[in-house]
Amino acid sequence: MPVATLSLNPRVEAMQPSATLAMTARAKQLRREGRPVIGLNAGEPDFATPAPVAEAGIRAIQEGFTNYTENMGMLALREAISRKFERENGLAYDPGQILCSNGAKQSVALAVMVLCRPGDEVLIPAPYWVSYPEMARLAGAEPAVVSTSVENAYRLTPKQLDEAITERTRLIILCSPSNPTGSVYPPEELEALAEVLRRHEHVFVLSDEIYEHILFEGEHVSFASLPGMKERTVTVNGFSKAFAMTGWRLGYLAGELEIVKAASKVQSQLTSAPSSISQKAGIAALEMGLEPVREMVVAFRRRRDFVLERLRALDGVRCPTPEGAFYLFPDVSAYFGRETATGRRIEDSDDLCFYLLEEHDVALVPGAAFGTPTGLRISYAASMDDLEEALRRIERGLRALG
Ligand SMILES: Cc1ncc(COP(=O)(O)O)c(C=O)c1O
Repeated sequence: MPVATLSLNPRVEAMQPSATLAMTARAKQLRREGRPVIGLNAGEPDFATPAPVAEAGIRAIQEGFTNYTENMGMLALREAISRKFERENGLAYDPGQILCSNGAKQSVALAVMVLCRPGDEVLIPAPYWVSYPEMARLAGAEPAVVSTSVENAYRLTPKQLDEAITERTRLIILCSPSNPTGSVYPPEELEALAEVLRRHEHVFVLSDEIYEHILFEGEHVSFASLPGMKERTVTVNGFSKAFAMTGWRLGYLAGELEIVKAASKVQSQLTSAPSSISQKAGIAALEMGLEPVREMVVAFRRRRDFVLERLRALDGVRCPTPEGAFYLFPDVSAYFGRETATGRRIEDSDDLCFYLLEEHDVALVPGAAFGTPTGLRISYAASMDDLEEALRRIERGLRALG
């Protein structure tokens, strides 16, 4: 009889665990030990889900709306999303071209899984959201990371895109506003990227627009709305960030019918539709209007300005102004090679984040997790009191490095 040995699927072995979750776990452990750790490592708004949305969820439970829904998500929800695309993005997606999933994370994973074939390349501008390369690997494809520069506010240039595309390139993943940098592509830069793609017809686009409403300057442009891009773009969005609904697990993708049908087939075999309760809440969110989001954005902008000013006052820290999301991604490489008071050498941003957590009680995420080891991510989804104290600790920590 063959004995089961613990060798796992090589695609799984090749994946990295989520570094953002690892940092959260370590910060929690220190807190349990009684340390006053301030966490600026979270990827979620520190606001409550708006009351009308929460109430719709409660009503769904009370009315017994607790069964499976259609695999693609309820038609009423997909109709509401279709109207949202029309209203906010100038995009006409039929409800049959929309698939609702357990968070935008699942939507991204499904899009990557159905589009990519083994050996394909997935172009991922860095700093990137931690999950993109791992999803590509899980699909049997290869992440092809293109590093952007702090000088260009971490935005991919048309030239970089043109030079990175090969015959094997199947997909490029764009995220604007970006996690982890907060950078936003202005419309003319998106158009310039689209112009390059028009010359490379074999490349699909995954446009992750989950932070679209958390925007401080300019207006959001959906990549699919650019001339000629809709047919080759899968648009991903969700409720987690704009409506402070991370725990409800509701996201969606939209694209060409064939792609959406394939993603729906995979979903039907993996998870089925998202929670019926969350779907009812999602409809309420889309009907509610954007006022609660606007209030949240006002608070985020105030915090961004505060953190940015303090960071820029620090010697050697370089940080572009983020125009969206709730993250800053300063370049801290000027601190590499220095030593802590206890004689430990800081080699990279992993060391720096570890030092700031262990010795100064502030949790950030090292840039290597996002493919850019010269930086680190600061989330300002935290109260002003916490931000003020955290900045004092970061200042103290960095100044103490000799
Ligand atoms: C860029 C980006 N895309 C997608 C997601 C997934 O969001 P969710 O699965 O909560 O809808 C996140 C969450 O952190 C994100 O930052």
